[in-house]
Amino acid sequence: MIESYTPEVFIGEEEIALRVQALANAINQDFFGQEVVMVCVLKGSFIFFTDLIRKVNIPVRTEFISVSSYGDDNFSSGELKMELDVTGAIEGENVIIVEDIVDTGLTIHELTKHFIAKNPNELKLASLLYKPNKLKHSINIDYLGFEIEDKFVIGYGLDYAGRYRELPYLGVLNAGH
Ligand code: IMP
Repeated sequence: MIESYTPEVFIGEEEIALRVQALANAINQDFFGQEVVMVCVLKGSFIFFTDLIRKVNIPVRTEFISVSSYGDDNFSSGELKMELDVTGAIEGENVIIVEDIVDTGLTIHELTKHFIAKNPNELKLASLLYKPNKLKHSINIDYLGFEIEDKFVIGYGLDYAGRYRELPYLGVLNAGH
């Protein structure tokens, strides 16, 4: 029998939905009359991404990319492995990278280099969360959901060891879970 555990709510569903709508409004305004390529950074951003693209009302082409960091679940080791790259053209396109969380900034730093090499027309970053405390790279987040303190959050796509992604809210884990 698997013990059930309900993590404490950190940011609730309604608050998330309001921020996602606000970010979509900003994207709609910035790219009015144009098309954007929105890139889902798997796996953590998949729920944020699907909510965001459905609130964007300009034409969107979707792409998916997957990177993983060497190290354990709580700690980036400083090296990244590209597991899945985009399949469509990026050159000359308006690209928005959609991340779940910027922590040390390594992932987005490396992804930015990766996309700049593909010569997009514009390259923007959307991130649901930003933890400034551990930032090691200079990062500009164009569309930010929430700046948060340095705690480990799960839910709304974010995981701990593959679990809790399905929670509809952002939660924090208590010791022992
Ligand atoms: P960075 O490369 O250090 O900025 O880390 C980004 C990645 O670390 C995210 O895409 C997440 O996969 C993971 N990560 C960092 N903090 C958390 C957290 O609080 N909860 C879940 N995953 C996290």
